[in-house]
Amino acid sequence: MGYYDEEENVESYVRMAEGYDGRELVDELRKRLAPGSTVLELGMGPGKDLALLAEAFAATGSDRSEAFLRRYRRDHPDADLLRLDAVTLETERRFDAIYSNKVLHHLRVDELRLSFRRQAARLNGNGLALHSFWHGEGVEEKHGLRFTYYTGASLAGVVGPEFETVACVRYTEIDEGDSLWLLLRRSSCG
Ligand SMILES: C[S@@+](CC[C@H](N)C(=O)[O-])C[C@H]1O[C@@H](n2cnc3c(N)ncnc32)[C@H](O)[C@@H]1O
Repeated sequence: MGYYDEEENVESYVRMAEGYDGRELVDELRKRLAPGSTVLELGMGPGKDLALLAEAFAATGSDRSEAFLRRYRRDHPDADLLRLDAVTLETERRFDAIYSNKVLHHLRVDELRLSFRRQAARLNGNGLALHSFWHGEGVEEKHGLRFTYYTGASLAGVVGPEFETVACVRYTEIDEGDSLWLLLRRSSCG
């Protein structure tokens, strides 16, 4: 049982994340994707970004935690949600873009590499992937959760030939320059 499988931990995350959302990240997708495009969010958590994505796109939410999915379904019974592990992405569906906000740092580096490969397989044509990470170096563990910190250079070593990197941008979530987002485009010949 993982940390986010417990209702109590889910509610504690919801309280901690109050006042934060991924509007600036979603705007980056809005600049590059036609309205109505299909977008899959990985690790949606409380679903604030899913609601923002749904303003412009046909958005599908997903998480590995049934507790987060249940919580969102309670208030949004018609939402399109999938229970998905971001490592394996076991669905036959394809999307124009895949999005996550502070999720993939929970994976081991080898799992992140696999996730990128699986994402490429679930994207249409030259689909986009946009993901945010905590900036830095090293790995920490808190409450049994892994936190892997990345720089643009260390992420470049994880992204495989299935993607070309469109942009990698440092930004601030809590402390100056504590985060970065990575925008990938599926390669035609990966
Ligand atoms: C730090 S929370 C971020 C939640 C949300 N994206 C946000 O910005 O508030 C991490 C989320 O990733 C999910 N998660 C962690 N590991 C996962 C995995 N392997 N596959 C799918 N979701 C995962 C957790 O259940 C949780 O919802």
